[in-house]
Formats: sequence, structure tokens, C-alpha cells
Amino acid sequence: MRNFKNKVAVITGAASGFGREFANTGAKLGMKLVLADVFQKGLDQAIAELIATGAEVVGMRCDVSKAEDVEALAALAMTSFGGVNLVFNNAGVGSGGLVWENTVKDWEWVLGVNVWGVIHGVRVFTPLMLAQSQREPDYEGYIVNTASMAGLLSPQLMGAYNVSKHAVVALSETLFHDLNSVHAKIGCSVLCPAFVPTGISQSHRSRPEDLRNTAEPTESMKVAQTMTQKAVSSGKMTAADIAEATFNAIREKRFYIITHAKIMATVKMRLEDLEHMTNPRDPFALKEDARPKLAS
Ligand SMILES: NC(=O)c1ccc[n+]([C@@H]2O[C@H](COP(=O)([O-])OP(=O)(O)OC[C@H]3O[C@@H](n4cnc5c(N)ncnc54)[C@H](O)[C@@H]3O)[C@@H](O)[C@H]2O)c1
Repeated sequence: MRNFKNKVAVITGAASGFGREFANTGAKLGMKLVLADVFQKGLDQAIAELIATGAEVVGMRCDVSKAEDVEALAALAMTSFGGVNLVFNNAGVGSGGLVWENTVKDWEWVLGVNVWGVIHGVRVFTPLMLAQSQREPDYEGYIVNTASMAGLLSPQLMGAYNVSKHAVVALSETLFHDLNSVHAKIGCSVLCPAFVPTGISQSHRSRPEDLRNTAEPTESMKVAQTMTQKAVSSGKMTAADIAEATFNAIREKRFYIITHAKIMATVKMRLEDLEHMTNPRDPFALKEDARPKLAS
């Protein structure tokens, strides 16, 4: 997709971080925007700020882990703008700790938002886009799923998040092949950034009451939270940089969006271990200072 003007973009997790910057970039390019988030106040603020710049924007509170919410979001896009061209399945949350210490609620929350959110986005929007491409000869569609470097690596103390993001990579690669197999006029990419300063280390702010843990966090959960907070806050790239890299990849129809090239050395290490069937090396081997320190 090269021409964005007047095209319709749907963005989940649009109230903060990457989603907010996708919205800014889309608005600057003259796109019509459909914004979704569970954080109503932030969403209202984003919509108001974007409308003030002259953009055409609608939005709704939408919990992407719920099928009916994502279906309602698609209905909003269709009634407001009559179609959809670009979908960012971006909403995501994080939770850490030793993998066996994550509670059922941790798994349900993280997999609900990060995996089911993307599943619903793909499941609901792709058929609408395919139908639209049959009606419009010049149709161009694109889907971007936000995964993470944690979709290509499996760092310690990030089990539920790693599992969710590996799933998003697998889903996106399959989507790529499936779209090609039906010669769809829809492209797709998977976004795999490393740590970037956004609200991600404060994800618990949007955690639903019924999925909150009642017990105090374990030591490993506290260490993981400190590690994430430090890594996220010291990230050098901004959310705006990530949005720019993402729109460039959409223009070039580039599937893998790798924003932190240096980390590919660690991905290569993982792939070598797989190729040679040697045991996985420490994902922090090339970045000792970032390794989480657990009391032994
Ligand atoms: N910031 C990073 O370091 C980083 C790195 C790699 C990948 N990511 C991924 O990027 C995506 C965006 O995160 P971000 O860094 O901008 O964080 P963020 O917390 O700033 O933004 C995420 C947004 O998603 C919303 N959200 C949470 N649960 C939701 C739900 N159930 N339904 C709808 N919206 C929901 C939040 O309210 C928030 O506005 C996530 O998928 C995250 O996993 C972030």
C-alpha cells in the first residue's frame, strides 16, 4: 500500500504507545481512523486530539479479547466509513515471573489480549476486506499484527508474554501464506520491536477486575516487573520511530518489521541452536547487563 489518503485504518490499543502513534501517522497521511481501546479516558483524549487536527476519527471501548467487542468494532468501521483498508491488531499487555509461578489468571489475561485479540482481529476483518476487494477493483488492504522480539526469542521470566508473541508470529506467517494462496489484494506484516518507552510496563492498569491476582506477587514477578520497567524506560527508539518504521514496511510490503536490528544476533543464536540441535543458549548472553537477577 503506497497511497494512504482517504483509506480507513482500524487501530486497537490506540489510546497509548504504538497505537497512538499509528493513529498520529495515519491522520497525517489523510487516513480515516477507527480507534479501539479499553482505556476509555485515553481513547476519548486521543480521538479529541486527532479531530482537532482535522482528521476524521471514530472510536469505541473495545476489549479485543472478546469476540463480540471486535465484531462491534468492525460494524463501527463499516457504518462510519463503509470499509476497511488497514488493520493494526496492536493491543497488548505484559506479565512476568518464573513460568510455573504465573497464575491461571495471568495466562488468561495475557493470552486473551495478545493472542485472542489478534485472532479476533484477523478472523473478523479479513473476510470484510476480501469482500470489499471483490467490490472495488482498485482495493488495497493491509494487516499489521504487533508481536515483539519476544515472538522470536524466549527470554527468562517472560513466559506468558513469550508464548503469546510466538503465537502472534505463527498466526501472522500463516496469514501471509493463506492470503497469498487465495491471491488476496491484502498484504500483512508482523511487527517485532524490542523495548520501547510506552505504557507497556504499566499494563496492569487495564487488567480487568476478574483477572486480577488476589495473592501478592512472588519474588520472581517483582524482579520481572523491575526488569521490564528498566528495559522499557531505557529504550532508545520512540513509539513514533516504531510507527514510522511500520508505515515504511507497509509501503514496501515487507513482512518482518524488525526495528532493533542489533537483537537479530540473539535471534541468529537461537536459530543456530535449533539447526545444530544444541541446547538453547541464554538469550541475555550478548547483553549480560540486562539479565534479570533472581536471588538463588
Ligand atoms: N513497548 C515495548 O517495549 C514493546 C515491545 C514489543 C512489543 N510491544 C507490543 O506493542 C503493542 C502495543 O503496546 P505499547 O508498547 O504501545 O503499550 P501501551 O501500554 O502503551 O499500549 C497498549 C494499549 O493497549 C490497550 N489495551 C490493553 N488491553 C486491551 C484490551 N483487552 N483491549 C483493547 N485494548 C487494550 C491499553 O489500554 C493501551 O492503551 C503490544 O502488543 C505490546 O505487546 C511493545
